[in-house]
Amino acid sequence: MKFKTTTIVSIILLCLSLVNISAQELITNVYGRKYQSLNGKWDAIIDLYDQGRKNKIYLNNKPEGKTDFYEYSFDHGLRLNVPSDWNSQMPELKYYEGTVWYARRFDTDKSADKRLFLYFGAVSYRCRIYLNGREIGSHEGGFTPFQIEVTDLVKDKDNFLALEVNNTRTVDAIPAMAFDWWNYGGITRDVMLVNTPKTFIEDYFIQLDKYKADKINASIKLSAKTANTSIDIEIPELKVKQNLKTNNEGVAEISFNVKKLERWSPDSPKLYKVIVSSDNDRIEEMIGFRNIWVKGEDIYLNDKPIFLKSISFHEEIPQRKGRAFSEPDAAMLLSEAKALGCNMIRLAHYPQNEYIVRMAEKIGFLLWEEIPIWQGIDFENTDTKLKAGNMIKEMVMRDKNRCSLSFWGVANETQPSEPRNEFLKYLIQCCKDIDTTRLITAAFDLVRFNKERQVFVMNDPFIKELDVVAVNKYMGWYHQWPVTPDKAIWDVAKGQPLIISEFGGEALYGQLGQADVVSSWSEDYQATLFRDNLEMFKNIPNLRGTSPWVLFDFRSPFRFHPTNQEDWNRKGLVSDQGYRKKAWYIMKEYYDAIK
Ligand code: GCU
Repeated sequence: MKFKTTTIVSIILLCLSLVNISAQELITNVYGRKYQSLNGKWDAIIDLYDQGRKNKIYLNNKPEGKTDFYEYSFDHGLRLNVPSDWNSQMPELKYYEGTVWYARRFDTDKSADKRLFLYFGAVSYRCRIYLNGREIGSHEGGFTPFQIEVTDLVKDKDNFLALEVNNTRTVDAIPAMAFDWWNYGGITRDVMLVNTPKTFIEDYFIQLDKYKADKINASIKLSAKTANTSIDIEIPELKVKQNLKTNNEGVAEISFNVKKLERWSPDSPKLYKVIVSSDNDRIEEMIGFRNIWVKGEDIYLNDKPIFLKSISFHEEIPQRKGRAFSEPDAAMLLSEAKALGCNMIRLAHYPQNEYIVRMAEKIGFLLWEEIPIWQGIDFENTDTKLKAGNMIKEMVMRDKNRCSLSFWGVANETQPSEPRNEFLKYLIQCCKDIDTTRLITAAFDLVRFNKERQVFVMNDPFIKELDVVAVNKYMGWYHQWPVTPDKAIWDVAKGQPLIISEFGGEALYGQLGQADVVSSWSEDYQATLFRDNLEMFKNIPNLRGTSPWVLFDFRSPFRFHPTNQEDWNRKGLVSDQGYRKKAWYIMKEYYDAIK
């Protein structure tokens, strides 16, 4: 039997493509590297019945002879912006859950002394990546970055990159089948082709010691396990220049004392230029240094107890009805939080883009970041646990040098069970394997009013695994008052710091009156609710922070009311059009009064 050349080539390609090139360790600080942006208009094909992979459309075949026949083309069809979700780009995709193929061509300048990595800030929710007709990797998780080395896979000219992106909700996913935000799909963050020297500074972790105000701990990892490579760390403003040598793993570690360090804080977000260099690579970024720890029921920032004046927001620009992805988007969200008088942001309910995290640090916000372990997760599924572990590691790896990052959140409103406890202990360990300096927390909705004792209590022994306990409690909204707010005494998580990580109620901007009617959806009722909750907070002896839910109205298929909601969760202190509701001013006054 005679094989055509093309058959032999495709068999070889098939064998090669079966070699699973999974996403590798993250390169730290990609924005500080040399890179070519692949943002812009990409060609797209909506693949509602998942036919594309079967028909190998990633080969991007074109009819040449008279008998060639392909029922697809990426040319002259749908085009989608990258980055962006697809839902906000055309009406037909508003509710779309399924597969969309993205494709683009790019040239690059290959050279023998460089390595090339495709880097994706996030793709929601899962994707397969194809380059020049070959599947080169896959990723699951809609909110964390990943990269794939393509040094030996790219050509100088006319590379064809295709992504098969799918956002269908599944029971074993994170988040799973139902969650109170829009299921945006797409290539939702930046895409870059990052180039590095052959052996480069792959990773570094440089932060102030958890407890000591003048000791910096640094760990640097090369991309190769070369021992005895000389590495310099410089912090010019502190007159620091330390030289260290790598071990057999290509890792170099050092701790050194500094004088006259100005520690970062929300009131004084001081950042220092830090330069890490080896004989053939150099990377720099602005890094802040602060101490944060818990003692008894207090949270200490730089040796002083702090009260967390927090707010939450989703990664969404309501006016655009789409996911936030750019620096201007970050500026819009963060400026509203600053105006409210906040010193902290709970980035709900998933790792948000790096522009938000880096800008929050520059402006001066402590940050709580979490992966979307939101209510009903398949805690008994080992694959789901491993996926969650990957996601939380990707989050910690990306942001571990951001001193603003102070809390790693491991869950939101999960119910007590042994499988849940084991799952969350695993996630806590995943965080601590990388970073032992930050505070571990989780939000619970388990506080109930105990009629006999006439106090609010909570019963979930798991909270002992946490540094800080967080409670979501919707008094006046989902739960009506069993006593008047001034008599609402709490006995929850005694001996530990407690944050109210969510409270609030809905109001349609401009709807007024009926200040005592829950279902009025009026600004006046929302204002009553806020005043009542702030009154209750006086009776929580270990309260160390509050975080109203939520800064902006946000989109959610949970919200059915035809006139008050229309697919919007209206708990925003600010409307979807950017107008501040009455409750915003009550919260502002409360925060401004806290020194
Ligand atoms: C929960 C949940 C939020 C949700 C909120 C609400 O506490 O954590 O994600 O949006 O309640 O019901 O508005």
